[in-house]
Amino acid sequence: MSTKLLLTLAIYRIILTVGLTLDPTELLRLGLHGQFSFDPSDVETASKDFGGLRRANPLAVLHPSSAEDIVRIVKAAFESAHGFSVSARGHGHSINGQATATNGVVIQMCSSRKPALTIVSEKFLYVDVWGGELWVDVLRSTIEYGLAPKSWTDYLYLSVGGTISNAGISGQAFNHGPQISNVYELDVITGKGELLTCSEEENSDLYHAVLGGLGQFGIITRARIALERAPQRVRWIRVLYPNFSSFTQDQEYLISLHGQPDTHKFDYVEGFVIVDEGIINNWRSSFFSSSNPLKVSSFNAEGGVLYCLEIAKNYQESNADSIDQEVEDLLKKLNFIPGSIFTTDLPYVDFLDRVHKAELKLRSKGLWDVPHPWLNIFVPKWDNKSSMVTPDEDVFYLVAFLRSALDKGTETQTLEYLTDQNHQILRFCDKEKINIKQYLPHYTSEQEWIRHFGDKWAQFSKRKMEFDPKCILATGQSIFEPSFNPNNKASRR
Ligand SMILES: Cc1cc2nc3c(=O)[nH]c(=O)nc-3n(C[C@H](O)[C@H](O)[C@H](O)COP(=O)(O)OP(=O)(O)OC[C@H]3O[C@@H](n4cnc5c(N)ncnc54)[C@H](O)[C@@H]3O)c2cc1C
Ligand SMILES: *[C@@H]1O[C@H](CO)[C@@H](O)[C@H](O)[C@H]1NC(C)=O
Ligand SMILES: *[C@@H]1O[C@H](CO)[C@@H](O)[C@H](O)[C@H]1NC(C)=O
Repeated sequence: MSTKLLLTLAIYRIILTVGLTLDPTELLRLGLHGQFSFDPSDVETASKDFGGLRRANPLAVLHPSSAEDIVRIVKAAFESAHGFSVSARGHGHSINGQATATNGVVIQMCSSRKPALTIVSEKFLYVDVWGGELWVDVLRSTIEYGLAPKSWTDYLYLSVGGTISNAGISGQAFNHGPQISNVYELDVITGKGELLTCSEEENSDLYHAVLGGLGQFGIITRARIALERAPQRVRWIRVLYPNFSSFTQDQEYLISLHGQPDTHKFDYVEGFVIVDEGIINNWRSSFFSSSNPLKVSSFNAEGGVLYCLEIAKNYQESNADSIDQEVEDLLKKLNFIPGSIFTTDLPYVDFLDRVHKAELKLRSKGLWDVPHPWLNIFVPKWDNKSSMVTPDEDVFYLVAFLRSALDKGTETQTLEYLTDQNHQILRFCDKEKINIKQYLPHYTSEQEWIRHFGDKWAQFSKRKMEFDPKCILATGQSIFEPSFNPNNKASRR
């Protein structure tokens, strides 16, 4: 079938579904330099995400060729008599349809046709990148100059705009703060279609709103990210604990060292709980490979559960002589099970990209594109001017239940079972008055969002009225009711 015919058919189908809400010819008349796609496979991709739990079809997908294209489409949505939603989609690694736009336009920020922008300043130690750039590509660009961003996510195939809209958290956060604490400046297109540059000094209210703002205030087209001299190698270490209290005691000790000189602290601190569930839900423990085996049973774990502290020390090859001693001195202060040390030494880039290896392994077994009923909770203090909400405590954990559901798995691997467990965990916290906050939050009612934001709700909704008064942006988050009705096809009659 020719592309043209396909396009015509697709448009026809869309008009039938959408009725009076949005006419595709209206989009084509905007005369953008980028490309609008009504192609069913493009629309299908934009209707889904990594979670695989829900679907919402957009009317069209835009592959922008510049920020100007985005200005025009948002302006059109803002000025249109009937309105339509516009959602930026980074790499679509959300869990609950956060980057979708029901019957609206999804902007594919990281498509292959993305605008090139990357500029590294060696003098001022920052990089300017397009908002849809993947972190792995940011790293590739900066490492050529021997530089790298300071704060990361565990996995690099996520977009800059996507993680900045949440927080961007990994084992460096205790030291450098999350990624949102390492952004100097942003270009943002608000829900009125204005392109504004913002920072701590300029348009600071917009800047703080957008950091952790769940895409509610604008579309990030450029981010200026802080860099440091890139370490060349990493000593990557895992040690084991028999019980929770000794494990957390050492974790809290290690993060308390954040103000110390580099040689007196680790550069990365995380940890996880090891339960014997096989590869599907231990996918990130690939560290214990066949050449580096771990036998949980040999460590006499209470109830078959072990606690694993994961730490890393960065270094330059010129300091290779002193790294053994530095690490040894640091490990001396810890109280792990004697002999339970697993060490790897690898290039910095390979350490940062470690989860991708696990991804490739799961993909080869057909275990990557499966439903992911993930739950992330903060069980605090970072810059509280941003939109991100955390518990009201000095020290808090991000606890992540990163599980995959299997269609043909055992009862405890089904989506229903795992989803029910997530609900049980949340109910338990509620009942025990454990004041958790969800990270990558998902709620569907205004009441729940108000509760989630707590003291920050008044400011959050005020900023929404200022920067996206018609509630056009990121409707997939289900926080604000759009001023138009995206579902009601006959809303104008
Ligand atoms: C395998 C995996 C590992 C992960 N590891 C970590 C981790 O270690 N640490 C961590 O903090 N998070 C982690 N996450 C979560 C991840 O940070 C979020 O899901 C993030 O939103 C994904 O980025 P994305 O580019 O795919 O965003 P998308 O899912 O595409 O979008 C997320 C939200 O941001 C909005 N958005 C996207 N781009 C822009 C933009 N340019 N401007 C404005 N709004 C925008 C969207 O509209 C949507 O509401 C992980 C997720 C996965 C699937
Ligand atoms: C926890 O483990 C540590 C050793 O790592 C031990 O000293 C301590 O007694 C244990 N605590 C409990 C409650 O079992
Ligand atoms: C932010 O933190 C500061 C210092 O901890 C505190 O004084 C202030 O009240 C906090 N603001 C909000 C909005 O929570």
